[in-house]
Amino acid sequence: MVSTVFYVFIFLLALLSYIFIKRNNREPHKRLKLPPGSMGWPYIGETLKLYSQDPNSFFAAKQKRYGEIFKTHILGCKCIMLASPEAAKFVLVTQAHLFKPTYPKSKERLIGPSALFFHQGDYHIRLRKLVQGSLSLVAIRNLVSDIQAIAVSASDSWVSGQIISTFHEMKRYSFEVGILAIFGHLEERYREELKKNYSIVDRGYNSFPTNIPGTPYKKALLARKRLSKILSEIISERKEKRLLEKDLLGCLLNSKDEKGQVLTDEQLADNIIGVLFAAQDTTASVMTWIVKYLHDHPKLLEAVKAEQKEIGKFNDLNNLPLSWTQTRKMPVSYKVVLESLRMASIISFTFREAVDDVEYKGYLIPKGWKVMPLFRNIHHNPEFFTDPQKFDPSRFEVPPKPNTFMPFGSGVHACPGNELAKLEILTMVHHLVTKFRWEVVGSESGIQYGPFPVPQEGLPARFWRESSS
Ligand code: HEM
Ligand SMILES: *[C@@H]1O[C@H](CO)[C@@H](O)[C@H](O)[C@H]1NC(C)=O
Repeated sequence: MVSTVFYVFIFLLALLSYIFIKRNNREPHKRLKLPPGSMGWPYIGETLKLYSQDPNSFFAAKQKRYGEIFKTHILGCKCIMLASPEAAKFVLVTQAHLFKPTYPKSKERLIGPSALFFHQGDYHIRLRKLVQGSLSLVAIRNLVSDIQAIAVSASDSWVSGQIISTFHEMKRYSFEVGILAIFGHLEERYREELKKNYSIVDRGYNSFPTNIPGTPYKKALLARKRLSKILSEIISERKEKRLLEKDLLGCLLNSKDEKGQVLTDEQLADNIIGVLFAAQDTTASVMTWIVKYLHDHPKLLEAVKAEQKEIGKFNDLNNLPLSWTQTRKMPVSYKVVLESLRMASIISFTFREAVDDVEYKGYLIPKGWKVMPLFRNIHHNPEFFTDPQKFDPSRFEVPPKPNTFMPFGSGVHACPGNELAKLEILTMVHHLVTKFRWEVVGSESGIQYGPFPVPQEGLPARFWRESSS
């Protein structure tokens, strides 16, 4: 009896959805078909499957079966995944206007809805120019010695032989570099308040979104409010002093649109928190992976060490800090950074949403569906990177084929912080290999996602200061 009712119900549901789909089939795309793939159960869809196995093998298995474009259901959304360089370029570059960024509302609320990466069109272009300007090569070349000083002070607390979480330490470093890029030299008091409150926001970011008091998400929302207050204070102080600084805050404060409008305090705050957010965990996870890769490949470590000690010796003799020119001439270390970006592919994929029905190679990408370029699959495809599971920096002696290497994304939303990130990473590599040796502790295999892949428990490790010789 119960099962009859159940089947009737399913039948009606199927009928209704059939009628609904027919009605929605608009004329121009009548003959287009959806990409291949299995949708699993609606809502639960394939989410369970995605979370019960390594996401990379999940996507890789589908790619093997269906090819460069396939559909699926994850997190309650209808998704189309793109696993080829051309498809990624189509969505991110050539037809970028047809695909808007899309993030869960709960995350948008935490960071601030006016942050540039949630937007598309004029507002995005305006903000992007400002952010790009403050992070350009011309701007960041003046930051080298400050970044080096931050690397030195970040490692001050490492007691010889004591176990520390590499990721945690790298996060402290990347946070301070972020603060430097945004505010220039910021008063200690403000830095501390921002750091403490931001870490509460950070903890809430991956927790279940709810307004129930005492939960990590709610605490994060409250901390986010306090951040706005602190930022308002910093901003009004800056306005009083009428400083024309070239840091991000300076660029944002000086901006006027064509009607002469300045940015509101909320727009300023959302974008500052947005950049801090985009800058911290990303860079810290890449550096954590580099510490692991160099540990796992002693010969490479020796080569990097030789390169960096050469620079270090010259600077120590002449009592000089690291220079911009030196950071641009670290070929061995630079290839290690590139290969780490490829291997770890910490931004495994991104999300967009089709703003209209779009045709790609005879397939229909329906309006409202999510679209995911799969960076990691492209970076791990043997067609583009031979023996992809092997850590081999020398592969970057030849530049990768167009659109096959996108650790910083591509197109209108590509990472404006990529040069700063690389500078910051190279500076840390220089400091690490010239002043320390290290040993990775315990389980060496696991990966944890939070949301970026990082070695298990943030890579616990012991560091020892090297006697300078
Ligand atoms: C190794 C470190 C980093 C990696 C791997 C990385 C990666 C990326 C990627 C893949 C995107 C594009 C996302 C998409 O298209 O959906 C992106 C966007 C962005 N990144 Fe980074 N990033 C890093 C460091 C930084 C740093 C240091 C900053 C700032 C100081 C930064 C600021 C931004 C901003 C503001 C955006 C949004 C751009 C827009 O929407 O127009 N990132 N990043
Ligand atoms: C957060 O910011 C407020 C100022 O709004 C400050 O008084 C407080 O010490 C900061 N730290 C924490 C952990 O809340």
